[in-house]
Amino acid sequence: MKDIQIKKLIGAEQKRQKKVINLIASENYVSDDVLDALGSELTNKYAEGYPGKRYYGGNEIVDKIEELCKERALKLFGLNMTDWHVNVQALSGSPANLAVYLGVLGATHVKSVPSADKSVPPTTIAAPKIMGMSLDQGGHLTHGQKVTASGKFWTQVPYGVDKTTEVLDYDQLRETAVREKPAIIVCGYTAYPRIIDWVRMREVADAAGSILMVDMSHIAGLVAGGVYPSPFPFADIVTTTTHKTLRGPRAALIFVKRDTRELDKKIDKAVFPGLQGGPHMNQVAAVAVALREAIQPKFKKYARQVIKNAATLANELMKRGWRIISNGTDSHLVLIDTWQGGVKNSLGAGAVSGKDASEKLEKDGIIVNKNAIPFDTRPPFDPSGIRLGTAAETTRGKKERDFKKIAEKIDKILKEA
Ligand SMILES: Cc1ncc(COP(=O)(O)O)c(C=O)c1O
Repeated sequence: MKDIQIKKLIGAEQKRQKKVINLIASENYVSDDVLDALGSELTNKYAEGYPGKRYYGGNEIVDKIEELCKERALKLFGLNMTDWHVNVQALSGSPANLAVYLGVLGATHVKSVPSADKSVPPTTIAAPKIMGMSLDQGGHLTHGQKVTASGKFWTQVPYGVDKTTEVLDYDQLRETAVREKPAIIVCGYTAYPRIIDWVRMREVADAAGSILMVDMSHIAGLVAGGVYPSPFPFADIVTTTTHKTLRGPRAALIFVKRDTRELDKKIDKAVFPGLQGGPHMNQVAAVAVALREAIQPKFKKYARQVIKNAATLANELMKRGWRIISNGTDSHLVLIDTWQGGVKNSLGAGAVSGKDASEKLEKDGIIVNKNAIPFDTRPPFDPSGIRLGTAAETTRGKKERDFKKIAEKIDKILKEA
């Protein structure tokens, strides 16, 4: 590379990544093949539209790449083209979710309807409802939070976990859904360590007459690896980022059940031309590479190890007195209540906030993120907990004995005055 400044900075980031213990639950390390595809000449190509229906010439090769990516996405999750459609063009998880809402719900209510009588103010049509988990309980911003387009154009009906068990409160959820009748119920979260009961979610959606959308961004690699129940037999729509447990480049997939509602066509139109122009074909190719990797038997072994490592991390921390949200984990994710559940050290130091905990750990080379815990009373920028994940370090070959040492180190650092 001739650009010395950027070359130096990339080199510095490579060194940083090698040096640290990376416990960011949403990060992973892609293969050299994925990097090759990302850095390829495919970035030069404009391909607005879909295979066979593009607005530019010269697409015979990228059409094949996009079709291959779709084929592999369906194969990885055991789906067939007759029952499921997949869109591989969304640039990342947030735009993918937005495309679903735009395609399925539309945004007609945003315009007010003028009345014939000028003295009567225009009527505004009520925004359709998206039922999503609250941010502090583990939901994602794009599941209807006011600060995002998902909460500005549509109305969020929040739900959450039981205060005592910190596990999804399905009874409450059902009651709210039946009363509010949301157009869409979104499940699949950003900081929820437990298995989601897809059967109950389907039952709730049916009782409320709602579309069931699963955002499996965090757990996609675990579903692909067969260590977390698949949402496909129950969902109408499944979105996922490709860069977390799935270990691909930054991108997203939108799977849509094919039926008379034709949601697949509506969502395709929302991705392009609704929200985006030309797809990033280097990214689509890199997703295809990652999907092929995830189809290999080796990936199943990886997914199993991710789960074992997270269980070890949670158990070792609990042994040392730390309060783990929901008392453990079924996934790659461990949430620690460092504030209320902080362990007093020998010097009598008290609880540590999520921000302080993440900063202390980073000084010693352990990278985590501060995170709200259910019913958090502290502000989002300095919440009561931290979120840890095992996907990235498992890619680097770490096993249970390594995570035992990591837990010991975290315990020691956080107990230091
Ligand atoms: C559940 C969930 N959905 C969507 C996203 C958004 O993905 P992106 O950052 O690619 O927009 C995230 C990101 O962390 C997530 O956890």
